Amino acid sequence: MKTIAASAPGKIIIAGEHAVVYGYPALLAATNKRLSLELSVSGKLPSLSSLKAHNLAHLVKLVKKLPQVDKLKIHSDIPAGSGMGSSAALSVCLAAAWLKATHDQPSQEEINELAYQLEKLQHGTPSGGDNTVSCYGGLLWFRKEIPAVKVFKRLADIPEIKNLYLLDTGKPAESTGEMVAQVADQKKAQPKKIVNAFLGMEAVARGWLELVTTNNQSQVEKLIKDNHSYLMDIGVVSASTQELIQHIERTGGAAKITGAGGKSNHSGMLLVWHPNSKKIKNLSLSKLLLSQKGLILNR
Ligand code: MEV
Repeated sequence: MKTIAASAPGKIIIAGEHAVVYGYPALLAATNKRLSLELSVSGKLPSLSSLKAHNLAHLVKLVKKLPQVDKLKIHSDIPAGSGMGSSAALSVCLAAAWLKATHDQPSQEEINELAYQLEKLQHGTPSGGDNTVSCYGGLLWFRKEIPAVKVFKRLADIPEIKNLYLLDTGKPAESTGEMVAQVADQKKAQPKKIVNAFLGMEAVARGWLELVTTNNQSQVEKLIKDNHSYLMDIGVVSASTQELIQHIERTGGAAKITGAGGKSNHSGMLLVWHPNSKKIKNLSLSKLLLSQKGLILNR
């Protein structure tokens, strides 16, 4: 019997969510929240694609039923369905453990590619950014040219960005796939408006790139505020989340969603910047660490 343990981080998208699905760049960071998985198997495993699952939860169920699988245990402190890449971390861990059980020395590239296939099972047409940052860790500049060609650069030694927090607005009613589909519909209905917002998000992402490479942090507030207003333009922020963000802005801070967002009620996790967090002490902020370790795989 082989037992394999894998753990991978959740992520936040600092800039470029949704636009990244259409080939614009995004800046993503691995966070200090992680998912871990333990897989014990004996015998030859089938490929995960041959199991014909409808989504990740179904795949996990099917894997647990296989006679070759003695144990599959998953533990996560990444809030599920809240824009922090919980499904990407699960995809990376499952892909890594499965490939390791099958042929012992999978490359990070193979693991990331299989994780992308699992993300497609979950979300339809993901950019691949979430699984890539979860697999490689750190801070990642990512661009999907076409589904088969994704380019990324892991940025080394980034400075600590001060005054950043996470704030949970609650789990959105919509899934990531549904939010991506809503934006696609909007883009069909109002192509100019949506493309302009994507171009604005690209400028924000490039602003962040400048910021992290020069450590000039004076623009953080403006970049987050601009990004939030483009996210409003593409319709991925709920009315209650917009009220909360306006409250944060009125007290001298800035905030934006960190993933797909949510429209009807909650919008998942927010990235909050505030130079004086005492002014929003009524909100339960948690400390955010960026640029954390990617996949850890042992046997
Ligand atoms: C979801 O975390 C981020 C989106 O940009 C979708 C994707 O990149 O696949 C909304």
